[in-house]
Amino acid sequence: MADLTTTYLGLKLRNPIIAGSSGLTSNIESIKNLERNGIGAVVLKSIFEEQIILDADNQLRLAKKNQFIYTERSESLDYIDYHVKIDYVSKFLNLISQVKEKTLLPVIGSINCITSGEWINFAKKIEEAGADAIELNISVLNANPNKSAVDVEKLHIELIRKIKATVNIPVAVKLSPYFCNLAQLSGKLQEEGVSGMVLFNRYFSPDIDIDTMEISTGSIYSSPTEFTNSLRWISILSGKTSIDLVGATGIHDGKTAIKLLLAGAKGVQVVSTTYKNGFEVIPKMLSEIEFWMEQNRYNYIDQFAGSMNQYKSKDASSYERIQFMRYYSGIGTK
Ligand SMILES: Cc1cc2nc3c(=O)[nH]c(=O)nc-3n(C[C@H](O)[C@H](O)[C@H](O)COP(=O)(O)O)c2cc1C
Repeated sequence: MADLTTTYLGLKLRNPIIAGSSGLTSNIESIKNLERNGIGAVVLKSIFEEQIILDADNQLRLAKKNQFIYTERSESLDYIDYHVKIDYVSKFLNLISQVKEKTLLPVIGSINCITSGEWINFAKKIEEAGADAIELNISVLNANPNKSAVDVEKLHIELIRKIKATVNIPVAVKLSPYFCNLAQLSGKLQEEGVSGMVLFNRYFSPDIDIDTMEISTGSIYSSPTEFTNSLRWISILSGKTSIDLVGATGIHDGKTAIKLLLAGAKGVQVVSTTYKNGFEVIPKMLSEIEFWMEQNRYNYIDQFAGSMNQYKSKDASSYERIQFMRYYSGIGTK
C-alpha cells in the first residue's frame, strides 16, 4: 500500500490533502468530519484583521489615529462592526484549542490581512491557543495608482518580519496571483524565514447583471480548470526555494492533486470541491492518488514529488513563450 505521508511547514501530515480556509473549517463538528474523511491538515477559517482591531477597544482608538488604516478602511471596519456582534475573536481562539484537544490534525490558524498594523500582536494568541502554524492571507489588491508594485512587496516583507518577530511557530503566506516577479519575491520571503507559500489566493469574482444593471457576484466556487496558474508557478519555483509550496485554487480531484505534487507541491488545499461534492471527495481523492502511485510503482510521495518541475529550465519565461508560439501562432506545428 502506498504511503501518502508528507511534511509541510515541518509538520507531519498523514497525506497531502489540506482543507483550505473556509466555512468548512469554522467549527469543530465540520473539522471532525474532515478528519473522519481522511484530511491531512486543516487551515481554519480566517480571522480578519478588522475583526482583531475592533475586538480591542484600545486598538480601535489607535486605528482611528492612524490615517492609513482608518481613512482607507473605514468602510470595512464599519461593515464588521455592524455584522459581527458576537465575540468572534475568543471563539476563533477557542476553536484552535478545541481542534487540538478533539482531533489529531495539524491545525493552521489563518489571518486575512492587508496592513502590518497593531493587530500583529494577536498572532501570539494564535500560537498560545495551540496552533501548529499560521497562514497569512495577505489580500492586497493593488488598485491605488499612487502605490507601486514595490510598495506592495515591501508591505508583505514588513508584515512577515513583524509576525516572525512575534511568533515561533512556522508562518506560511497565501499569495495573490498578481505579482510582477514572484520568483524574486519568493527569494525575499525565504530570507525573512517564511516556511510555506500557498499559491494562490482566489479573489472574490465580480460580475455585472445586465438586466438589473447591478454589480453581482461571480462564482464563489472555483472550476476544475483553474488549477493551471498554481501548477505553473509551483513548477517554476520548485527546487529553487527552500519554502514549502502548496497548491490552491481549482484542485478538485486526485489527478489534479498528483499534477501539483509532480510540479513540486508539498500538498494541495481543497475547498470548492468539498463544498460541491461533499466530504466524501476527500477519500476519493486519496484513493485516486494511491491507485496512481501503485500503478506507477511509487511507495512514497518523495519518489515522484517535484519530478516534473522546471528546476533544470534556465529561463522559465522562454519555455512559456515557445509554448505560446506553438499553440497560439501555429509556429512549429503541422
Ligand atoms: C465559502 C468560502 C469561504 C472562504 N473563506 C476563506 C477565508 O476565510 N480565508 C481564506 O484565506 N480563504 C477563504 N476562502 C478561499 C479558499 O480558502 C480557497 O483559497 C479558494 O476557495 C480557492 O480554492 P478552491 O479552488 O479549492 O476553492 C474561502 C472560499 C470559499 C468558497
